[in-house]
Amino acid sequence: LTAPAARQTLAGRHVLVTAGPTHEAIDPVRYLANRSSGKQGFAIAAACAARGARVTLIAGPVTLPTPGGVDRVNVESARDMANAVAQALPADAAVMVAAVADWQVEAAPSKLKKGDGPPTLTLLPNPDILAMLGKSPRRPRLLVGFAAETDDVLAHATAKRIAKNADWIVANDVSGDVMGGDRNSVHLVTADGIDHWADAPKSDVAGRLADRIADALA
Ligand code: CTP
Ligand code: CA
Repeated sequence: LTAPAARQTLAGRHVLVTAGPTHEAIDPVRYLANRSSGKQGFAIAAACAARGARVTLIAGPVTLPTPGGVDRVNVESARDMANAVAQALPADAAVMVAAVADWQVEAAPSKLKKGDGPPTLTLLPNPDILAMLGKSPRRPRLLVGFAAETDDVLAHATAKRIAKNADWIVANDVSGDVMGGDRNSVHLVTADGIDHWADAPKSDVAGRLADRIADALA
């Protein structure tokens, strides 16, 4: 089954998308991660490509197939992701869907042994890729962040939009089974206010967002 071809409303645009979790090494065999499946970010990359954009998808470790017409760059850690984003610029729009780990681990160079007892992990802050783009002279014209929250979704999303100098924040409540699931219920937070979108398959949310991106860049 193939979806009907979308109108080429993003032809000639370069859209950068980050997706998935990041893995932060503890030692050569262990890592710190999170529950992001990458599904929403991959769907957004696919929707932008279907509308004619050149899409660079910077993907953390997930097993999802690469959507047709998308250039994929695989990364592991938040630092790798930050470097890959910088390499992929300039872009007309960037959609930062990745659940970037907030901390990296002061990693051990060789495998920690159980017999030595539970290690104490030292965590260091990771670069905030969205905030870096927000401040950059190479900031894409349209900068979109995501905010996965379990409490006070709209207040946190509104604060993040301003703090990170993003144009839009797509806010979603992840207290249910959104992470890993196939549906999403989001709120689009912009300078003009908040749009509440009905619960829908992640592919529909992606299509609707890609249409809004095309309108904003037109
Ligand atoms: N983000 C990023 N780099 C990071 C952390 C987050 O680019 N190191 C981006 C995410 O991709 C997302 C947005 O910032 O688009 C918000 O991420 P989120 O985790 O909700 O916000 P944080 O600022 O990390 O705050 P907290 O996790 O404490 O809620
Ligand atoms: Ca975070």
